[in-house]
Amino acid sequence: LAAEAAIADKVPEITAVTAQTPAYYSLDFDASKNYTEEALSVNGTEVKFRAYRHVVYVANPQNAESQYMNIFIPAAYFEGAKINGYTKETAPIFMPNGVGGYMPGKAGEPLEKDNMAGGGANSSLIALSRGYVVAAPAIRGRNTIGEDGKTYVGKAPALIVDYKAAVRYLRYNKKNLPAGDTEKIISNGTSAGGALSALLGATGNAKEYNPYLAEIGAAEARDDIFASSDYCPITNLENADMAYEWMFNGVNSYYTAMWQLQDLESRGQNVPGSKQRPAGPPPKAIDADAANNPVASQQEVQMTSDEIAISKVLKEAFPAYVNSLKLKDENGQRLTLKKDGTGTFRDYIAGKYKESAQAALNNGTDVSSASWIKVENGKVTAVDLSAYPAAATRMKAAPAFDKLDLSSAENDEFGDIYNTPKHFSNISKHYEQKTGDMANSEVIKMMNPMNFIGKADTAKHFRIRHGALDRDTSLAIPALLALKLQNNGVDVNFSVPWGRGHSGDYDLPELFDWIDSICK
Ligand code: DHB
Repeated sequence: LAAEAAIADKVPEITAVTAQTPAYYSLDFDASKNYTEEALSVNGTEVKFRAYRHVVYVANPQNAESQYMNIFIPAAYFEGAKINGYTKETAPIFMPNGVGGYMPGKAGEPLEKDNMAGGGANSSLIALSRGYVVAAPAIRGRNTIGEDGKTYVGKAPALIVDYKAAVRYLRYNKKNLPAGDTEKIISNGTSAGGALSALLGATGNAKEYNPYLAEIGAAEARDDIFASSDYCPITNLENADMAYEWMFNGVNSYYTAMWQLQDLESRGQNVPGSKQRPAGPPPKAIDADAANNPVASQQEVQMTSDEIAISKVLKEAFPAYVNSLKLKDENGQRLTLKKDGTGTFRDYIAGKYKESAQAALNNGTDVSSASWIKVENGKVTAVDLSAYPAAATRMKAAPAFDKLDLSSAENDEFGDIYNTPKHFSNISKHYEQKTGDMANSEVIKMMNPMNFIGKADTAKHFRIRHGALDRDTSLAIPALLALKLQNNGVDVNFSVPWGRGHSGDYDLPELFDWIDSICK
């Protein structure tokens, strides 16, 4: 009883949760036990580190297998040595999340060979080799089930609540951590994980999340971070359908990714185009290079007349949204769209593709296969944005995210504890085909970093990447994020790598050079 009272003192609103969740995990990190000494190598150089695995980061997890982190500390810091100019007091803390597809994220591990990082060492191992502490949390996702074996406990906003709880745990244990500067926490993620990383960066200490943090017994500490690294963030979900049609309207067929087909099948949803292709399951093989080769091993599917009709509605709604943001470019010029979708914001997007192609040319990359750009004497002289969508191809039918039949990964992400999917945008709710509820408006708000920039303790530094071939979301979406951050005084490093599709961690040396440049 005394112990329970002590817990209740520390963690507000714990009683309701303890009723179903008797398990209690200490929030105090004990560095003296439960670790192993390990070594891996990067380019023939040995990297020694101490590994603390399975550190549950909340007092009352709803699923203890999803709410823990792995902490890795370079061995040199136990011997008083320096690495890359960092000491145990100044070492930044690299905090990658493994979320993809809004599914549960696994806790990261340093790896010598990782497909995502082009077959070489992964981000956690590179981080250790460069003297960073790595804190890699597992995160609940849209199919995470609670300790009762029935309820879905990982729907929105669980993923951001967990990431914040992990940050709070580190800060709360500042004195117990053998190394690492908790004022230099850098998040990293790709796709849904990139969106999550952006959300963590944008929403530091925002009070909206407090009830959710209290519910799982998160430590009482700040959750703002120093910097956020976001690869191809699938973010700003309630506006992403409009952005997608602003870009892809007029292209009336699409190539669904294999992971989406498998995800739809696993949830008993309709598989698009199943009537258009021979009977039988969709091909299972995922082309190893599918992310950078969009149409590899995918089936072309024609959009229906309803999908074509809603594409137009969404496209025409986008300018009002862009204009409502009142954004400016680096030179102070207002970025707006006219009713027909043209305007300075469209020119800005064309300019990002132009920079991308020019950077590729400067590196000696052949860009001649891209029919939508014009090159004269080694200079990109024009970008035809209207020809880009057909060349890049469409990946998703309209609406891309909030599906009228509630079938998308995002509808599932906004679903309830009984696994019923929900809408999250007004247009889809209006034109819906199934009787679906709208997700709670506070939850929709809490999933979008755009709502918190300039209103919370937003990270001072962001690095955002979106590949020039990526059509999982429109380039407009990461661009709006970058611009809104920039317009609010955040230091933003945003670019569009040529030849890249929907992937991340492909430029780790540059990523860590950037982190070093802001930390040192
Ligand atoms: C991811 C990709 C998508 O196209 C999407 O809609 C959601 C998530 C991902 O790879 O995480």
